[in-house]
Amino acid sequence: MKVDMDKLVSLCKRRGFIFQSSEIYGGLSACWDYGPLGVELKRNIKEMWWRDMVRERDDMVGLDSSVLMHRAVWSASGHEEGFSDPLMECKACHQRWRADDTKDSRCPDCGGELTEPRMFNLMFKTFFGPVEEEAAAIYLRPETAQGIFVNFANVVDTSRKKLPFGIAQIGKAFRNEITTGNFIFRCREFEMMEIEFFVKPDTAGEWFSYWLEERQNWYIKLGINKENLRLHQHGEDELAHYARVCYDIDYLFPMGWSELEGIADRGDFDLAQHAKHSGKDLSYFDPDSGERFLPYVIEPSAGVDRAALAFLVDAYDEEPDKNEIRVLLRLHPDLAPVKVAVLPLSRNESLVPMARDVYAAVRKCFTTQYDDAQSIGRRYRRQDEIGTPLAVTIDFQSLEDSQVTIRERDSMKQIRVPVAELTRTLELKLSGEPLEVLPPGGKYWLGFEG
Ligand code: GAP
Repeated sequence: MKVDMDKLVSLCKRRGFIFQSSEIYGGLSACWDYGPLGVELKRNIKEMWWRDMVRERDDMVGLDSSVLMHRAVWSASGHEEGFSDPLMECKACHQRWRADDTKDSRCPDCGGELTEPRMFNLMFKTFFGPVEEEAAAIYLRPETAQGIFVNFANVVDTSRKKLPFGIAQIGKAFRNEITTGNFIFRCREFEMMEIEFFVKPDTAGEWFSYWLEERQNWYIKLGINKENLRLHQHGEDELAHYARVCYDIDYLFPMGWSELEGIADRGDFDLAQHAKHSGKDLSYFDPDSGERFLPYVIEPSAGVDRAALAFLVDAYDEEPDKNEIRVLLRLHPDLAPVKVAVLPLSRNESLVPMARDVYAAVRKCFTTQYDDAQSIGRRYRRQDEIGTPLAVTIDFQSLEDSQVTIRERDSMKQIRVPVAELTRTLELKLSGEPLEVLPPGGKYWLGFEG
């Protein structure tokens, strides 16, 4: 089911996923704070990306370069000159717009006449050190990629990697966007997950196709419905100044198809520019052919916040439940902020010691929430709404037979398992084993679904 953005924003605020930055002062537009559940979701997205793109690959290494870099980096990369959007201002209401968000030179808000477009550089400028003068001006990075290019020789010298190989980085980026909105889709401060994959120039085409496929599959593996993904090839007028070819992986967001991730063939543009401007040799010596050359670069560049939005939109569901509507986030277990909820049937004192023991054992293995407030039905609904895949319930019979109930978020089915088998069973279910596969002594359960 496709959720509208207002509903999702409201759920995210109500349940502690995402808050407006500086809210008590009226908010800071296009900046967002991730609350207790949002921070877990975002960490999980980054962790899964790092696991799949770096740790489980032989041809990738990681990097964590600084946000602040020498100003010469941005001059060489072309960002000082060319990282701009055409800005138009409404002569009537003075709102500012990106030219490509307007039609017929009219303000999309009030219909007023717009000024001629002028180029506006999107990089945030600040001062390095105590003196606020132009000579001390530097930029907050608008992409993490340049930190990778300027470290290319360091990584080659120290990691003994041979082409083809990639350098991956996750980190904050800053853009003084003209048009914002659509929640966390376009922010002024956001996080990127970028790969610069260095290849022999004559293999760039095949690696480009490989990464297009690989990156789409990553989203699908983590639960995105493939019907909601499509590829969009950049026309000549859309290509960034560094790109030879670029495709967007678009996602069907509530406001329509929009870019989720970009995959670009940057050729040798960046290494050539940095070699020229720094005077350092950034060529690669190929031990197999004995040749020296500048590698080409294929760049899969993803936004963490945009990925979080896509995963939330895709996971949102509503279904009739008795006389109410059950709202749930069908998040992939690897992404769910809370993996297991431990719920004593009631606050009855006799249940507390066992429930606490179960909680202590389970939380050692998974992100777990203990909840004993309100009816069991209300607590299941609360966990459904934040996407918790499994809930463990301790009831009076548990005190007799040392068994507890596992209830699955998506199907609401329940099984009964011995406490001794609990963590192992939870681990298997979270990694995809069907609920129906029972551990020794386990059984189906038709117990309480409040
Ligand atoms: N180094 C390549 C690069 O920066 P990009 O298409 O400008 O390419 C890559 O950005 C990805 O970063 C986008 O696909 C999007 O997911 C994310 N992104 C870009 N600008 C963003 C913004 N203002 N807010 C949130 N995410 C953004």
